[in-house]
Amino acid sequence: MKNSLVSISDYGKDEILEILDLAAHFEANPNQKVLEGKVIATLFFEPSTRTRLSFETAVNRLGGRVIGFSDAATSSSSKGESLNDTIKIVSNYADVIVMRHYIEGAARYASEITDTPIVNAGDGSNQHPSQTLLDLYSIRKTQGTLENLDLTMVGDLKYGRTVHSLIHAMYHFHPTFHFIAPDELKMPEEYKLFCKEHNIPYTEDAILEGNFSKTDILYMTRVQKERFQDLMEYERVKDVYCLHRDMLEGTKDTMRILHPLPRVNEIDMDVDTSEKAYYFQQAQNGLYVRQAILTKVLGLSI
Ligand code: CP
Repeated sequence: MKNSLVSISDYGKDEILEILDLAAHFEANPNQKVLEGKVIATLFFEPSTRTRLSFETAVNRLGGRVIGFSDAATSSSSKGESLNDTIKIVSNYADVIVMRHYIEGAARYASEITDTPIVNAGDGSNQHPSQTLLDLYSIRKTQGTLENLDLTMVGDLKYGRTVHSLIHAMYHFHPTFHFIAPDELKMPEEYKLFCKEHNIPYTEDAILEGNFSKTDILYMTRVQKERFQDLMEYERVKDVYCLHRDMLEGTKDTMRILHPLPRVNEIDMDVDTSEKAYYFQQAQNGLYVRQAILTKVLGLSI
């Protein structure tokens, strides 16, 4: 379905900027009747707080209605119904389907079996395009530009779908990346290859301290327990990094810390009161960006 948002690569640079401008409009005017008469389904086969609730708030603030489930155990998938059948059925009821699924490629699959626009709210370790758009919105808002920025990504770069999507999106804007992860959680080869093919400079390191004095965006991530096959391996790496406030000394005044959240213990709470901590505002920006996404996939004008 051409109006689906499955991967951030579905949007070119102009469409990304269009969404960010639309989000800025919604930030200034969050309550409008743009979705009046529309029904949006939120199908969450994996847990979520921010993504589901901000999409649902976006619908409510724009005058639409929400159906769906936040726990697949309450749906007929728990009785063995296939994703194919679930999507075909919900397509009869809703104008847009926002879905999160634990299988990589599930949203793409869904988009190929229905004409109802699919918005991927995260598929396994693969992509999380609405998060990426709100990350871009937050980056532009704090830095005044998306061009020529230095981004340091820290933590679970292997399983983190948000960093994978962000690399694909930032390539339009001439970034420099620094990947900081332990060996077990390094950035997968396919994303490093993507950088090489597009002449995007990057470095790799395993040490956090003292490694981000020149960075504009410090993008922290959680080690994702739910993706590990071997829980012993998770135990070995789960506390590998913890950002403390004293580690921010010597960083740029304009540097901002982003995190898709939820955090576990990779950012100490003493960072929260720093003016460089931006992760709670970042989550708030998600509301405006998701209002923009719903408006765009439905082809509505404001
Ligand atoms: N950032 C994010 O996807 O958060 P949730 O898992 O709470 O939706």
